Amino acid sequence: MTDTSPAFDTELFSQERRKRGLLLGERLTAVARTGSTNDDASKAAELGAEEGSVFVADEQTRGRGRRGHAWVSPPGQNLIFSVLLRPSISVERASALSLVAGLAVRAAAARRVHQSVAIKWPNDVLVGNKKLAGTLVESRMRGADIEAVVIGIGVNVHMVDPPEEIASVATSLALLGDPAPSRETFLAEVLAELESRLKIFGADGLGGLLDELRRHDALLDARVQVGDVHGTAVGIDEQGNLLIRADDGKLHHVSSGTVERL
Ligand code: BTN
Repeated sequence: MTDTSPAFDTELFSQERRKRGLLLGERLTAVARTGSTNDDASKAAELGAEEGSVFVADEQTRGRGRRGHAWVSPPGQNLIFSVLLRPSISVERASALSLVAGLAVRAAAARRVHQSVAIKWPNDVLVGNKKLAGTLVESRMRGADIEAVVIGIGVNVHMVDPPEEIASVATSLALLGDPAPSRETFLAEVLAELESRLKIFGADGLGGLLDELRRHDALLDARVQVGDVHGTAVGIDEQGNLLIRADDGKLHHVSSGTVERL
């Protein structure tokens, strides 16, 4: 923590949460520093923590993103948190929660910035070509069943001087112009958006969110490559796969990988 970055204020968050009548975040653990809030949530799940528990940190020493990348975030400036869920779904379906979380962050951010905010499959929230937020969904298994799902979310909120390693690729609510909200307020705003989309996902799966995904799909109609599949991105399917129409007309349903724009 720096002198200019106050610690996460759990009392302020509780007020913001109550104002919105949220279920998520009734149990909230906030710490100054941890390895990864996803690990904190996963350990808590093992010890019986309940659905909707939220784990916040001002700083992570081993914050991680997809595919072994580090999640870099200067202490106290941004929102770093994980939400513990105990859904009765398959692992395949759980991975679509990354898009559900991305939509929630996107919607909350869109109320705060004038520029358009988009989702880049499978887990980025972008403004222009810069990253505002990322999501990392991890499942905790008991045999073949999911015991818990952890939705980890990092949102750049107050950061105005990003560390060198992310300076060319990252943005933040503060950098996008308007005064950025407090982390506590923005967490409540994201959780409200997440709660409403989790209801839709629980009832209808990702199918209930496909229209919203399509409206905010950063890759739609772009020329892309994932592994050895290349062609035009034409949307996302009900399982959360990226749809790529290859030049020979074949439609590929891509379940994982890193997208490169061609
Ligand atoms: C990505 O963009 O690849 C995903 C980034 C996810 C970062 C968040 S920060 C809170 C939670 N704890 C982690 O270690 N990672 C996620």
